[in-house]
Amino acid sequence: MAIEQAVIEEIKFRNNIEDVISQYVTLKRAGSNMVGLCPFHSEKSPSFTVFNGEGNFYCFGCGAGGDVITFVRKAENLDYRGALEFLAKRVGITISESSQDKKESMRRERTLEMNKIAARFFHEKLMSDEGREGYEYLTKKRGLSNSHIRHFGLGFAPNSFGALTELLRSKGYKDHEMASAFLCGVSQKTGRPYDYFRNRVIFPILSTSGDVIAFGGRVMDDSKPKYLNSSDTPAFKKSRNLFAMNFAKNYCSEQIILCEGYMDVIALHCAGFMNSVATLGTAITPEHARMLKRYTKKVIISYDSDEAGQNAADKAFKLLGEVGVETKILRMSGAKDPDEYIKKFGSESFRKIVEDSETEFDYKFGKIMRKYNFSVTADKVKALDECEKLIAQTSSAAEREIYLYQVAPKFGIAPDAMKRDVERIISQRRKNAAKDETRKIMTSSEGYGDRVNPDFVKNPKAATAENAIIGLLLMHPEYVRELENKGDPITADEMFTSLGKKIVGAILEIVDKDVTDSSALQGALGEYLELEEVERAAKLRVSRRALTNNTISVVYECRKTLGESKDRAELGIDDIIQKKREQAKNGK
Ligand code: CTP
Ligand code: MN
Repeated sequence: MAIEQAVIEEIKFRNNIEDVISQYVTLKRAGSNMVGLCPFHSEKSPSFTVFNGEGNFYCFGCGAGGDVITFVRKAENLDYRGALEFLAKRVGITISESSQDKKESMRRERTLEMNKIAARFFHEKLMSDEGREGYEYLTKKRGLSNSHIRHFGLGFAPNSFGALTELLRSKGYKDHEMASAFLCGVSQKTGRPYDYFRNRVIFPILSTSGDVIAFGGRVMDDSKPKYLNSSDTPAFKKSRNLFAMNFAKNYCSEQIILCEGYMDVIALHCAGFMNSVATLGTAITPEHARMLKRYTKKVIISYDSDEAGQNAADKAFKLLGEVGVETKILRMSGAKDPDEYIKKFGSESFRKIVEDSETEFDYKFGKIMRKYNFSVTADKVKALDECEKLIAQTSSAAEREIYLYQVAPKFGIAPDAMKRDVERIISQRRKNAAKDETRKIMTSSEGYGDRVNPDFVKNPKAATAENAIIGLLLMHPEYVRELENKGDPITADEMFTSLGKKIVGAILEIVDKDVTDSSALQGALGEYLELEEVERAAKLRVSRRALTNNTISVVYECRKTLGESKDRAELGIDDIIQKKREQAKNGK
């Protein structure tokens, strides 16, 4: 993990925060700062501020803030390391691997090697006598040909507890390596390893660069669980990979068909829809959405027609909408999933329903219309109400107008009458949102419901003093040394909340590495803290900055407050009196 401090500073230095943020936000000058609309919450007037001189940003609306690294972490949804790499690449710096990194890439390499051996093993078994059951399942039951099987590298895991484990051992891989690659499990009773996939047909999962990164294994009957999948390993994260993307990537610049199941994708590829992919036994994640956005203009959701599939579709619409990729959904009737649909109705018919796929509005509108029986007045009113709420979700007024003219006639009412309702819903929603916002601000100023620092409420006075100390140390890292030199070093344990202890602990460690520049200090925090904690630190620094007295004497005062309220929390009042007496006696 560790990247040298000097390299981090170089990366920050060469990535001017204003330049970086300008790629995401249109910034306008406001005095010595730049302002724009916050990319992290929706707002109409700009409260997002970039303090270029200090290399910081802060949103006075939502409290997001930090340095250029924090910005990239949030905007690109990367971890600390990923953000540094992103910024390094942007300015042509190469990060040399630390020994820790080397270990990690070694683990990754070895996992990939083991996977490759396993994939070959599974495939050979499928094509051999031992794999007859799997072969018959795939060919007879699922209708795949030899060339399909080869194309996807399908395999068979024999009903044996040790075949693959033994093979990998003979090639020099250690049990713990196989376990972390999810190729073997370890018996809790005996501590002995055993093959993880047994008596299943195997679907290898390939990265876009062609490495085997994971496996899915399906039973050949109705037993449970239907699928076993590799969990995350040093070479695989299921939230970031899609099945068959290695093939689809060459066919998907216009559109991608997004399915739920391995078998759906295989059936689609075989039928000529090479632009289809599936998530890997998980619902779609924001990372998937961003990945899809990189590859294509349009996603066609092609989920199962059951309720679970349809609920999953709502989530897909939401996440894909957020990254701004055009999204449509397939309406499939007469079959439970794309695999079955193609088998029943053929690929031409599938092509037709892809062409006819619906927008989110049409899809949701259709669902409402099918749900209610219009000959019952009360039902019709409910349907109208749901339609109005649906239209109110559209932010473009022109688009709303189109929907109103489309929908109103179905209810036999004038679009204008419906429009008034819709506008009422919108203004009500705005009011509620504003109320929520105020409530949030009020509660957070009292510290209630503070998720990042839940200890705040336990003693707001102490926690406020602590916040001041953190803000001051972040602005003036040199205070740490000054206090040390005066024989009164500050410690993490003095802090009241566990977040405070964590942040101050990190500050002390970083300063210990001779980082004494405020901006460098902030940049290094990411290595010790979670993103939201880094942001909280940035917020404390910004609020401190707004005050006029930021001398070291404030640190002294706050430490005193902190000490006293801590005493009060830990000691009874008698103890405090006793302590004061002793102090008086010792002449302090
Ligand atoms: N899945 C899983 N674990 C399960 C069931 C499903 O990981 N116990 C995942 C698999 O990635 C599967 C997908 O969810 O491909 C969709 O499930 P399902 O529709 O049941 O599977 P299909 O791939 O369509 O398989 P089949 O047609 O063989 O039933
Ligand atoms: Mn299926």
